[in-house]
Amino acid sequence: MSQHSVLLLPGDGIGPEVVGEAKKVMEAVASLHDFGIDFSVADLGGVAIDNSGSPYPESTKELAKAADAILLGAVGGPAWDGLPAAERPERGLLAIRADLDLFCNLRPALLYPQLADASSLKPELVAGLDLLIVRELTGGIYFGEPRGIEADESGLRRGFNTDVYDENEIRRIAHLAFQFARKRGGRLCSVDKANVLEVTMLWREIVSDLASEYPDIELSHMYVDNAAMQLVRAPKQFDVVLTGNLFGDILSDTAAMLTGSIGMLPSASLNSESRGLYEPVHGSAPDIAGQGKANPLATILSAAMLLRYSLNEDAAAKSIESAVERVLDSGLRTGDIAAPGESVCSTADMGDAVVTALSAA
Ligand code: IPM
Ligand code: MG
Repeated sequence: MSQHSVLLLPGDGIGPEVVGEAKKVMEAVASLHDFGIDFSVADLGGVAIDNSGSPYPESTKELAKAADAILLGAVGGPAWDGLPAAERPERGLLAIRADLDLFCNLRPALLYPQLADASSLKPELVAGLDLLIVRELTGGIYFGEPRGIEADESGLRRGFNTDVYDENEIRRIAHLAFQFARKRGGRLCSVDKANVLEVTMLWREIVSDLASEYPDIELSHMYVDNAAMQLVRAPKQFDVVLTGNLFGDILSDTAAMLTGSIGMLPSASLNSESRGLYEPVHGSAPDIAGQGKANPLATILSAAMLLRYSLNEDAAAKSIESAVERVLDSGLRTGDIAAPGESVCSTADMGDAVVTALSAA
């Protein structure tokens, strides 16, 4: 029987509630599929600042390096909004991404037919939507130096950041995007701003050069402003979208909204050894924290991605995904995915229903 180790980072806001449900589901699926998971738990984000003064404490770092995979809830909240940029909970998330070299961020946007009415677009535009955003996560303007806010002699302040990618950083994420396109619909759209920004001129050149190694993949390029427009005009034209850190941050929120509920969307952040950090795309939702209202499905689906990409337990991942489908079929809804007037279940009800659906399969 294989034994895996998973680090849980519940984090802030609704994080602990949704991670709790995902843990239940992982325990159930492990016993059904005959493998074991040793769980450990650590602090990241605001809770880490409160308990130990740093958003990414040394103790968390050690456990993160030792684990086969990490499941994160969410970080941040109004309690820490007043802190200077360098001390905010979000810095903990950026630090763990950089520390573990999690350069490959996968953000699928899948529309569940059961929830088609929840999309902000007309059902015919989104029916069957299934796209994957591959976002570079440890480079670009998020990490580029120099950065800062400085005053000149007269006291006039200027803020600045640096958008920078070297060829190797572009190549390693592009290779993965081509490979994901191969496992999916065979189409890759690389998004840049190569009409203005040199850094993305290089991006476009490197991605184009790799195309000869993937003759079976249909490669296209799109400027980011057009991509933003196309995502809300005709999103089904996309299969795999490859882009840098900042554009990926923005486009992935747009893609998420097309599916109707950001409460449904998982994500994976992987390094070159496929070790990874998995988290729901939604944030810490402080307005509903601790009330049992949060939708745990994005975290449960993140746990499925964790099983697939880091633990190599594909059958278990599929069991979770089909259990989620069956729960949606049964009509169970948390507030974020309920139609007006429809009755609403709690976070724990939803987690329990997935566990029941797993064993019923
Ligand atoms: C995301 C978030 C983060 C990001 C923040 C919380 C640092 O928006 O994961 O998309 O900008 O990458
Ligand atoms: Mg974001």
